[in-house]
Amino acid sequence: MIRSAYLAAEGLEQPLLLELERKRVDIAAWHGRLALSPDPPVAAAWALDVWTAPEEHPAPSVKAAADVLRGIQRNWSAYAAGQHRRMALIADRLPPVKARKLRFPEPPPSAHLGAWTLLAPDRLLLSAAKTSPFPNGECRFEEDRAGPPSRAYLKLWEALTRLGAWPEPGQTCIDLGAAPGGWTWALARLGAAVTAVDKAPLDLVVAAMRGVAGLQESAFGLEPRPVDWLVCDVIAYPARLLGLVERWIASGMADRIVCTVKFQGEADGGAQAAFEAIPGGRLAHLFHNKHELTFAWSRQTLSPRERAG
Ligand SMILES: C[S@@+](CC[C@H](N)C(=O)[O-])C[C@H]1O[C@@H](n2cnc3c(N)ncnc32)[C@H](O)[C@@H]1O
Repeated sequence: MIRSAYLAAEGLEQPLLLELERKRVDIAAWHGRLALSPDPPVAAAWALDVWTAPEEHPAPSVKAAADVLRGIQRNWSAYAAGQHRRMALIADRLPPVKARKLRFPEPPPSAHLGAWTLLAPDRLLLSAAKTSPFPNGECRFEEDRAGPPSRAYLKLWEALTRLGAWPEPGQTCIDLGAAPGGWTWALARLGAAVTAVDKAPLDLVVAAMRGVAGLQESAFGLEPRPVDWLVCDVIAYPARLLGLVERWIASGMADRIVCTVKFQGEADGGAQAAFEAIPGGRLAHLFHNKHELTFAWSRQTLSPRERAG
């Protein structure tokens, strides 16, 4: 019996597999990028989406499969790992789900969404509940191809969208590892006052944006100072980033933190577990992440005792 299913991002099945092994979750089989488990669902940072209530149903015909799905709820997204034609025929019989691209800043879709696939022509696997509000965890935006100097801003947009919060006009941000300036561009466009810290120079257009101040120095040498948002996209070993994040949290100077944690080769399970253990924090693989996870932390989610340190 399948009791949970974990969807890996393309090419990132291995770190998900290692994470699930570490969390003692058995994998009975892979269906494309979907790891099928007989164990109850657990939080898995490397999964783009987790199917938390899987059910197997016989699907002797296209109509029978569609009837099962429609009988449960309205909104479904399909994950296909084969059986493409048959799945398209089933999808044609379901109410359309508009996966509109988001216009940042706006909240993620709130409509309840399930997921389904065909394990075989006559075997339907569905889950009425899943962790991501996006089809197959794919959070897509209307991109700005003219403004930002790199596409890295999409990671920050996605992280902020998932948080359901972003800097308000006049709030302060420190952007560590800011060059060439995609994240700084995104923050400045929200009307925030951004201090962009990098050893490398910032793109000149971003440096000239209203509210942007550049600081050409190391992110690791910067003493914590009061700030609404600390964001960090520095390329560094996870253990070193962990030290930086812990130092800022202990200082009590930042209200919120968003930090990319980049892994080389095999993911560093120890560092991942240490980030996961930070109270008030969340670690996730975003659709726009490559071989990296994004750590998001908020002081507001801490209990008064934790806040007092
Ligand atoms: C992936 S890029 C950041 C991209 C940026 N977020 C954007 O949107 O354009 C990583 C940056 O980290 C910077 N970096 C690496 N080590 C650093 C350090 N010790 N202090 C400050 N910046 C550092 C690099 O110079 C590089 O610009």
